[in-house]
Amino acid sequence: MSETTLKATAAASGASATERFLTDKAAAPGQGADSKRVDTLVTELITAVHDIIRRHQVTYEEYNALKSWLISIGEDGEWPLFLDVWIEHVVEEVVTATRKGSKGTIEGPYYVPGAPTLAAAGTLPMRDDEAGTLLLFRGQVTGVTGEPLAGALLEMWQADDDGLYAQFAPGIPEWNLRGSIVTDGEGRFAVTTIQPAPYQIPTDGSCGRLIAAAGWHAWRPAHLHFKISAPGHEPLTTQLYFMGGAHIEDDVADAVKPELILDPRPNGSGNEVTYDFVLDPAS
Ligand code: DHB
Ligand code: FE
Repeated sequence: MSETTLKATAAASGASATERFLTDKAAAPGQGADSKRVDTLVTELITAVHDIIRRHQVTYEEYNALKSWLISIGEDGEWPLFLDVWIEHVVEEVVTATRKGSKGTIEGPYYVPGAPTLAAAGTLPMRDDEAGTLLLFRGQVTGVTGEPLAGALLEMWQADDDGLYAQFAPGIPEWNLRGSIVTDGEGRFAVTTIQPAPYQIPTDGSCGRLIAAAGWHAWRPAHLHFKISAPGHEPLTTQLYFMGGAHIEDDVADAVKPELILDPRPNGSGNEVTYDFVLDPAS
């Protein structure tokens, strides 16, 4: 991929992710919040920052560096990227701690509702010359007692062979590698797609500057995203990774779990793998 493509992409993804979040999820700040809860959480957050400042004898130079960085992350539209990479995985851990069904993991900033519907055996929308190894991904959606969930909705989205997401990077058809699959009478699905490439957080924005300043890396391992829902069940948001793939052991977003690693096998035209999803009953 050329340097110019990367640059254009980085600028676009943050802004699109912010717009997407504001459209789908944002509540008015503080609206409906329990003030006791706000008091507890914000007081403890601020106190934790005070403790760090004392413990590390933070200087005015460092305080001002933090101030400019916080200003720039908003200007770059990179709050969704920052929060979903460094914070979301702990929220996900806490919220799903008592689940008995399949493991979930972070949603990330690139989910878009309303992807085109495919049959239970279908192919994700892709370009005629879509690059990457073909992958046949199949399995079954059940409840925790093993009952098949016919008509469950499996929403799937992923990066392409350049690690880029449609609707967030420029120049990719709107619903490329995004689809809504409805399971058959036995809760089964079989989706043809391509194996995504590892994803790199845009390096030319505020998150990239933080990563460079701290000497970290910007990579997530290649992954497929899913949201699975069925009436009477808790929706499951998860991702699946590829065994032995780059950065499987050092995901910048810390969102890999051993239960979420696929081991696809060659099937002649590409690879195939089976994975079953188990949904908890609605609480
Ligand atoms: C980010 C991107 C992803 O594709 C993902 O799955 C999680 C986080 C991000 O850039 O914040
Ligand atoms: Fe992702």
